[in-house]
Amino acid sequence: MLNIIAKAEQNHDLSKDEIVKLLATDEYNQELFAAADRVRKRFVGDEVHLRGLIEFSNICKQNCLYCGLRRDNHRLKRYRLTVEQIIDFARKAKSYGYKTIVLQSGEDSSFDVPTMQHIIREIKALDMALTLSIGEKTREEYAAYKEAGADRYLLRIETTDKALYEALDPGMSFENRMRCLRDLKELGYEVGTGCLVGLPGQSLESLADDILFFKEIDADMIGVGPFIPNPDTPLHGEKGGTFTLSLKVMAITRLLMPDINIPATTAMESLDPNGRIIALRSGANVVMPNVTEGEYRQLYAIYPGKICINDTPARCRSCITGKINGIGRKVSAGYGYRQKKKIG
Ligand code: 5AD
Ligand code: SF4
Ligand code: FES
Repeated sequence: MLNIIAKAEQNHDLSKDEIVKLLATDEYNQELFAAADRVRKRFVGDEVHLRGLIEFSNICKQNCLYCGLRRDNHRLKRYRLTVEQIIDFARKAKSYGYKTIVLQSGEDSSFDVPTMQHIIREIKALDMALTLSIGEKTREEYAAYKEAGADRYLLRIETTDKALYEALDPGMSFENRMRCLRDLKELGYEVGTGCLVGLPGQSLESLADDILFFKEIDADMIGVGPFIPNPDTPLHGEKGGTFTLSLKVMAITRLLMPDINIPATTAMESLDPNGRIIALRSGANVVMPNVTEGEYRQLYAIYPGKICINDTPARCRSCITGKINGIGRKVSAGYGYRQKKKIG
């Protein structure tokens, strides 16, 4: 096992069998996390990039079985920020020193292309990098956002097991999701994707496929998080993913993709009070603190136990900076684009 870890640290390459072996035993976890931490340091350094996250609408036309924002969840009070509110939150995020805004929402069609273009232009005028995370759109729509100035796009594949994907995301097609990722790449976005860990029916082999897929499409960012069962969804009775397995998927991703951006995800911290720091020491180099204000934080209820729902943007900014400095790392002053490096 140690030779597999050493090989990954050196060559950034593993077979599916080797990945499954690593995932299947917990005996060498500390060595795995330490190797991922060294690769992180060597390729992307000690700086941590902060991305200010604006959750601007919890309205979603999709019905993913795992997600609290699904359209059939009638227990959730829905909200949609106004264009002015969104731009105002972005302006405040800039004043806190964030260099990137991530605009995230459910698949809310009321934000049409001209509206999104207007928001994108206003935020780009603040001299910030801009990431969109607003779901599946047509190629023309992606092109229009890009033309307005969007830099990056997040769209998790969730799982590369097509049958599992289509069972958990009724009405959505795996093919279309792949088409979206392909279009985003071709249009010149920095593309972030990722997966959920511990979905019902997901195997270690399937997680190994996910990791190999990230490498195959040369993703610029990978977000990995545990599936956390939401009581207001059809998967309420299922077992969730574990912190440790999610961390392992993340660490192996770092070994295989040394120069990409990897966030310490909010879902990880929701399972372990020190989760993001542990992730930052096991391969991650990005944190996405919430800059949405007020009750909207509670209402963006994808899964239960989400952190920071009663905190303010100012509090999160100083909290996370303190934690990052506390482990001898520093908050980056740059935009945090992926710097492609020669691998190997
Ligand atoms: N637990 C953890 N993450 C979830 N997501 C959706 N539902 C859950 C859940 N129950 C993630 C998906 C999606 C992102 C916005 O939130 O991966 O892409
Ligand atoms: Fe909507 Fe995304 Fe949740 Fe699916 S995962 S219901 S598309 S917000
Ligand atoms: Fe929100 Fe710590 S990051 S309170």
